[in-house]
Amino acid sequence: MSHQSLSALTTYSKTAGANSGEKFSVSWKSPSNIALVKYWGKKENQIPLNPSLSMTLSQSYTLTRVTATPDREEKKLKVNADASHPFIPKMELFLQYIGKEVPVLKELSFNVETTNSFPHSTGIASSASGLSAFALCLLSIAEMVSGKNIDSGEFFNLASFVSRMGSGSACRSLYGGYSLWGKTDRVQGSSGLFAVPLAERVHPIFRTLHDAILVISSEPKSLPSTRGHSLMDHHPFAAARIDQAENNLSETLKALDSGDIERLISVTENEALTLHALIMSSKGGTVLLKPPTVNVILKIREARRKGMSVFFSLDAGPNVHLFYPEKSTPEVEQFIRNELVSSCENGLVIYDCCGTGPVLQEI
Ligand code: DP6
Repeated sequence: MSHQSLSALTTYSKTAGANSGEKFSVSWKSPSNIALVKYWGKKENQIPLNPSLSMTLSQSYTLTRVTATPDREEKKLKVNADASHPFIPKMELFLQYIGKEVPVLKELSFNVETTNSFPHSTGIASSASGLSAFALCLLSIAEMVSGKNIDSGEFFNLASFVSRMGSGSACRSLYGGYSLWGKTDRVQGSSGLFAVPLAERVHPIFRTLHDAILVISSEPKSLPSTRGHSLMDHHPFAAARIDQAENNLSETLKALDSGDIERLISVTENEALTLHALIMSSKGGTVLLKPPTVNVILKIREARRKGMSVFFSLDAGPNVHLFYPEKSTPEVEQFIRNELVSSCENGLVIYDCCGTGPVLQEI
């Protein structure tokens, strides 16, 4: 599998400055995202079973600096001075991949300094922000060593393509607003190899959508996502799920386009509950919901019955993403304080909203 723009760098990399002992350093800030239509199950080469659609977050991001040196004595890859950081195997995969196209990268050692703006295991995907930030840094370094700039639209497409190799959901973090990953006739240019932005297809009310993450538990994930996806391999409802995801994607696109919040509520909650239903009906019957998760969901629905514009999503864990339009902020924040905070671990709520995508940092 190759990518045109990446191949274009190959020619230039033959004359790269890496051999001259030059040091390359770059820093990117890249956000996490929350899926409205869930990616659950994959085929070989990180191709999703069904298309997924997510909202890029604003306040939940990873800040990563990668410094590349031609120093071959050092261990090749260190993250925060740790040569056995859990992200290293995935980062090595990126390097192997980009290294095939830009061989000079293989002669460099990489020191990665990375921090998240949010606490660990809180229902915010650190792999999405962390691996997209690293892919962006590697591509910027590939540009520096090759002396060739990739066109900016292509750059993010390529970063999405590379991020996918590390973590599927990471490929959706490359764009502001909403992103779609997976091939569907409903969106031109869509692909299982990378995500595409949905910018102009989204009604303004959803471009400022808020997401308060209600942290029910910060225990580490009991179902790592790679194992979770493999549960779909022989799932009795797999075929029905693929059909349902296609229909839910179509509904979500229509809702986003028209600004129809009722439609978005119905399909987003259906996706969240389906994800857990699939997990519970898999071999082994894992239950990731905790009693306060269910309480919070019921309270959200009760508030909605009384006229409040609120709805929820869930990741593969117990924490709840509470969505609301910008204009409802004061009343929803009061609702959170009065009725939901008591269900959260140490009262932790992370306030976030729809974001504008990754940002290259000043040197
Ligand atoms: C439930 O992207 O974490 O959050 O590709 O194995 O790294 P890998 O999985 P990952 O899976 C995310 C699953 C999900 C739904 C979603 O984000 O679409």
